[in-house]
Amino acid sequence: MRQAGRYLPEYRKLRERAGSFLDLCYTPELATEATLQPIRRFGFDAAILFSDILVVPQALGLDLSFAEGEGPRLSPVRGVADLDRLAVEGVVERLAPVYETVGRVAGSLPERVALIGFAGAPWTVATYMVEGRGSRDFAATKRWAYGDADGFARLVDIVVRATADHLIAQVRQGAEAVQIFDSWAGTLPEAAFHRWVIAPTRALVDRLRAACDDVPIIGFPRGAGLMTEAYVVETGVDAVSLDTTVPPAWAAGALRGQCAVQGNLDPVHLLVGGPSMDAAIDRILDGFGNVPFVFNLGHGVLLPTPVEHVARLVERVRARAG
Ligand code: CP3
Repeated sequence: MRQAGRYLPEYRKLRERAGSFLDLCYTPELATEATLQPIRRFGFDAAILFSDILVVPQALGLDLSFAEGEGPRLSPVRGVADLDRLAVEGVVERLAPVYETVGRVAGSLPERVALIGFAGAPWTVATYMVEGRGSRDFAATKRWAYGDADGFARLVDIVVRATADHLIAQVRQGAEAVQIFDSWAGTLPEAAFHRWVIAPTRALVDRLRAACDDVPIIGFPRGAGLMTEAYVVETGVDAVSLDTTVPPAWAAGALRGQCAVQGNLDPVHLLVGGPSMDAAIDRILDGFGNVPFVFNLGHGVLLPTPVEHVARLVERVRARAG
């Protein structure tokens, strides 16, 4: 959940040294340092590789840039005619610096700290590929998915294959668990959720399990709401990361015995800190009771987060966990 990033002064320095966010992602020495910074400062139990979900579409041949303050821009894929231009061969070769980073981080983390690799889920990555940027309504992507399901399935299948190869390469270099970020899972109605969130994620999980038998897989179907249980059961993920809106007591009941659970503090509590953050932390720890649980945020750390609030959070969770 962006434990590395611009809220950390040491990250801002590193980012300046790298020149751009993407240069930082693709320079193993610097990306390793970005991965390790939050571990050094806060002593988290797990590190997440410093990279981005959009390196996969870039490796598939799309132009990618991050305009300062505006988020990502990609050269969009708008229909089946554009699919033949995707560079489906050689994705893993083009992403070699990412795996070098994984290897370096794995070699430098303390034994007790797990290393999490990650990728975007096929649906979320497809939305960026089709819209060419973030979106409010995902109209271009949905229009293609609803109007020409077979054509859109070809795009999703390309993303599934590339993403599976990308995750397998991370595991081979030392990632001990992987997380699949489906940030825009919550934008689809039920039937489309089954077809474009659950089915491709299941295909990804199957490919990963075939190559790396026992690596734990964490799914993050952000906004899935009432579809969360079906997502867990039908994708076969080992753990689910819950967004801020899922009631802990519901999850503890509905998901008991099915998977491990992580979540789900609203990152805005980290802006506010103080007693309201403490109370929110306590509600989460109380709500999840005795299910296998990892304390986490429900979404990414926000830019103006005071670092001392993060330190306070770690202290409180550790004190409560004994
Ligand atoms: O510390 C970590 O969590 C690991 C690294 C990580 C990043 N992005 C670094 C990053 C991870 C796991 C991601 C995932 C990611 N990237 C997602 C899924 C999770 C989510 O947030 O919903 C998505 C949708 C993206 C795409 C993306 N990357 C966007 C929309 C943006 C712009 C946001 C912004 O704040 O400008 C990014 C950029 C990005 N990815 C940054 C970081 C640290 C900020 C880049 C900078 O230094 O300017």
